[in-house]
Amino acid sequence: MDFPTWMKRVQAAVETALAEHLPQASLAPQRLHEAMRYTTLGGGKRVRPLLVYAAGELTDAAPAVLERAACAVEMIHVYSLVHDDMPCMDDDALRRGKPTVHVAYDEATALLVGDALQSQAFAVLAASDAPAARLVQMVALLARAAGPAGMCGGQAIDLASVGQALTRAELEQMHQLKTGALLKAAIVLGAMAGRALDAAEQAALDDYGCAIGLAFQVVDDVLDATADSATLGKTAGKDAADNKPTYVSILGLEASIALAEQLRGQAHAALAPFGDKARRLRELADLVVQRKA
Ligand code: IPE
Ligand code: IPE
Ligand code: MG
Ligand code: MG
Ligand code: MG
Repeated sequence: MDFPTWMKRVQAAVETALAEHLPQASLAPQRLHEAMRYTTLGGGKRVRPLLVYAAGELTDAAPAVLERAACAVEMIHVYSLVHDDMPCMDDDALRRGKPTVHVAYDEATALLVGDALQSQAFAVLAASDAPAARLVQMVALLARAAGPAGMCGGQAIDLASVGQALTRAELEQMHQLKTGALLKAAIVLGAMAGRALDAAEQAALDDYGCAIGLAFQVVDDVLDATADSATLGKTAGKDAADNKPTYVSILGLEASIALAEQLRGQAHAALAPFGDKARRLRELADLVVQRKA
């Protein structure tokens, strides 16, 4: 199967699963449920679910467990976007080509949509048909990636850094936390849904995750500076307008593009021990770096 076909199949399977795992809009409280579905369904590249499925190929993972892990990571991601767009954070009006939740609904609803998506993510994951001890590890891993030592911590650094000249090391730390942590969690969760990896394989996968996690946000920074809002489905030029430190503001555009390319090479190199089984992960490294939106 070629990569575009594989990608479309996973995206379609995830769309169906997300629709099943979200509360029905006809059930009370309708406004909350409708807003959860509005922001989660019918948009987004689904990069994290794709990483879950791709990593699952390394360990011959159980499809039903992959499906729940993919939905859980995507729900955490969508929650992070809804809150990231709120007036108290980046104050964005456009997301995935539509008005953001606080614009289409209201701020209190956006806050609750994020809260509810986070809780739902753990409920969906915890109901997976995986061995109990493994499942507890998976839940703990996702919690760490989403929390103060992961996405939330990175978002806190991001907000505290407006107008600051971060060092390159500080910038990398911020990006690894706010974006890298959840991408890495997607990869490790996918692998954990199958046979156990040995220590060398775990280290290789960790190297891949670090490279991809950072590359993803470097490219996000580049696209913010170079693409238009219609292509991105979110407001372009927002980082410079908000005086955010980014790879583009600190390294410059050319060096940022070169860094993303270098990280793609590192990601490919890390996958060497897995041979053919890492084909989808290789293709996703290319997608993350070469994407136009
Ligand atoms: C945007 O993530 C926010 C970041 C973490 C950079 P994506 O670019 O994956 O957004 P969607 O899911 O495709 O909308
Ligand atoms: C957000 O980074 C990372 C998240 C945890 C949501 P950005 O603020 O750069 O994401 P976009 O550009 O709004 O998607
Ligand atoms: Mg932000
Ligand atoms: Mg933002
Ligand atoms: Mg951005």
